[in-house]
Amino acid sequence: MKLFLDTASVDEIRRMWEIGILDGVTTNPSLVAKEGRLFEDVIREICDLGVPSVSAEVVGTDVPTMLEEGRHLAKIHPAIYVKVPMTPAGLRATKTLRSEGIRVNMTLVFSANQALLAAKVGASYVSPFIGRLDDQGQDGMELISDLRQIYDNYDFDTEILVASIRHPVHVLEAAKLGGDIATMPFGVMEKLAQHPLTDLGLARFLKDWEKVPKAPRAAIPAPRRS
Ligand code: E4P
Repeated sequence: MKLFLDTASVDEIRRMWEIGILDGVTTNPSLVAKEGRLFEDVIREICDLGVPSVSAEVVGTDVPTMLEEGRHLAKIHPAIYVKVPMTPAGLRATKTLRSEGIRVNMTLVFSANQALLAAKVGASYVSPFIGRLDDQGQDGMELISDLRQIYDNYDFDTEILVASIRHPVHVLEAAKLGGDIATMPFGVMEKLAQHPLTDLGLARFLKDWEKVPKAPRAAIPAPRRS
């Protein structure tokens, strides 16, 4: 499963990118607004880090504006996936962008039927927002299980990008259900590597290591002159 960060913070992205566990980044207008910087500058900087997949969202709601914004965003960098909302206009725009070779991440997906349509118009990613479903008393993970079954039934190659993740158990469940990608906030990704028993075990090993007799370190030879 690919792991994406759901953020527009270049600093957070750089930190995970340097560790080597990051496969991509998703942004949205709310995340970009938090940074207080020009949208295109942020997107360009993220792409320049070398992250292979960067989702940037259109804000137009009619087909011509979505197409104009989508084409513009796609030109910024080859890593761009244009994020388009799941509306009738978004479906139409996705079909056209796809025919021009522009990859689309269809966002704001809350039902299996919406996801079926996203696959039919050729979206590269579909983004079901599981946390927002949980927030209102529905089981978001049920949607992932339905999508996996539907996409497998018909061999759709649209990737299921599990979005609106709130905690590590969401990541675990998404992985068990066969989600292709999980996108999450920095804090959640950080927690994936943590366990109190790891910290305790490491502290104990280091303490015991102090009791092991140490041989004197070999002197470092001086550099030879030619
Ligand atoms: C996905 O691409 C969205 O940016 C995101 O996951 C939304 O998450 P939220 O419900 O925490 O805002």
